[in-house]
Amino acid sequence: MTSRPLGSPPASRSAEPAGRPTIPRSWPVPVVLILLSAIPLTTGALRLVQLAGGPAIIPANERFTGFPLPLVLHIVGAATYALLGILQFVPRIRRRHSAWHRRSGRVLVVAGLLVAGSALWLTLAFQRQPGSGDLLYVLRLIFGAALAACLVLGFVAIRRRDLVAHRAWMIRAYAIAVAAGTQAFTEGITEAVFGTGELTGDLAKAAGWLINLGVAEYAIRRRPRATVPR
Ligand code: HEM
Repeated sequence: MTSRPLGSPPASRSAEPAGRPTIPRSWPVPVVLILLSAIPLTTGALRLVQLAGGPAIIPANERFTGFPLPLVLHIVGAATYALLGILQFVPRIRRRHSAWHRRSGRVLVVAGLLVAGSALWLTLAFQRQPGSGDLLYVLRLIFGAALAACLVLGFVAIRRRDLVAHRAWMIRAYAIAVAAGTQAFTEGITEAVFGTGELTGDLAKAAGWLINLGVAEYAIRRRPRATVPR
């Protein structure tokens, strides 16, 4: 059933059999998502420290030092989106604190659009990342635009009270954004097996996005329509 207004309490709470948990275990998905985002979020924090004049724990990136605003917006938006987004996937929070889910969802749409917009800005306005090629350039434009499109479609869907479409678009948006984490693994594995190279690096990044979208489509289809979380 998808017609219960968002924010109203679950209708069948009192009908749950006593002592039998009906909400799925909450921790596995958030734990995986935290681990996934840990590498890019750490890099982002270290980059912010370095841009703020602190110690350069990671090598300085000269391309951004003159005008770091888009990078700062990207990192702050990405950290907000990745960390706050994790809570949207916790069934217990989604079901029992739907007002929180709605409020943080609005913040997430803004943060996600910031990630997408700044990613496009970084791609279009700065010298290309050394060691990367045309393929990554095009992929960043495609996935930056796709991230924005998924967020808008997910937002429009929930305004229409279409929970199934809302869930699907928001899962896709999150999968595209946190591919930054998956790419840390695909790049590491690709480098270890095939060595470094422009095309190899670009393909490794592409693999990160494809893996995440594959997992997203699986998650979207796994749950029958009738039991979409409320
Ligand atoms: C939550 C997800 C994301 C996180 C945590 C993240 C994190 C980061 C970080 C930390 C940097 C700075 C790297 C450095 O200082 O050397 C960066 C750069 C960048 N990111 Fe993201 N990012 C995310 C999503 C995305 C997405 C979805 C795209 C594209 C569709 C993207 C495109 C870029 C681009 C183009 C750069 C500049 C790379 C360069 O030219 O050196 N990011 N990201």
